Amino acid sequence: MATPFVMEALGAQPRDEFDCGVDALNRYLKSQAGQDIRRGVARCFVAIDAGSLAIAGYYTLSACHLLLDEIPSTLAKKLPHYPEVPAARLGRLAIDVRFQGRKLGASLLADAALRALRSEVAVVFLLADAKTEAAAAFYRHHGFAPDPQTPLRHFIPLATFAKAAGGG
Ligand SMILES: CC(C)(COP(=O)(O)OP(=O)(O)OC[C@H]1O[C@@H](n2cnc3c(N)ncnc32)[C@H](O)[C@@H]1OP(=O)(O)O)[C@@H](O)C(=O)NCCC(=O)NCCS
Repeated sequence: MATPFVMEALGAQPRDEFDCGVDALNRYLKSQAGQDIRRGVARCFVAIDAGSLAIAGYYTLSACHLLLDEIPSTLAKKLPHYPEVPAARLGRLAIDVRFQGRKLGASLLADAALRALRSEVAVVFLLADAKTEAAAAFYRHHGFAPDPQTPLRHFIPLATFAKAAGGG
């Protein structure tokens, strides 16, 4: 990621002023993320603006699976015929309005993919459940395919990011 942002796991950073323009995503960071981390159901990573030390953006990552039947045949054909395929879920992704339009969303997406690729748990896809059509358009812009049965759900093979991550 281009400076001046530093990626960190969510801890004690002040988060009261975070505003991405979507109330549910603001509330999640302020009152739910810490609990989800403690309960082990999500990890949350934040981009800190090195100048103001404000949280400029965040995302959450958890393990999940896709049913083989949900995956378009073009993507499924190289996979073994197990009923489930392991995936990482980008549950939430949000950029503070002061920092939108500066490629930070794209950087957080790449950061999430990199963490999933580096995981010692096998993961094939990165999955994103968009909350709105605008968010879905963001994922499609970055090469995610929509799930034909759940239109706001999108996924992309993690191998797509492997080259950028230096993995071939
Ligand atoms: C959607 C969001 C994450 C995008 O982050 P951002 O930092 O403003 O976007 P970036 O500057 O990284 O954009 C990178 C690219 O995506 C494109 N893009 C950004 N938002 C887009 C959208 N809604 N639809 C389609 N493309 C989009 C940009 O045009 C840019 O394209 P380019 O690289 O070809 O020039 C951010 O605006 C946001 O947090 N919105 C409110 C919360 C939200 O809707 N989150 C979505 C997940 S639930």
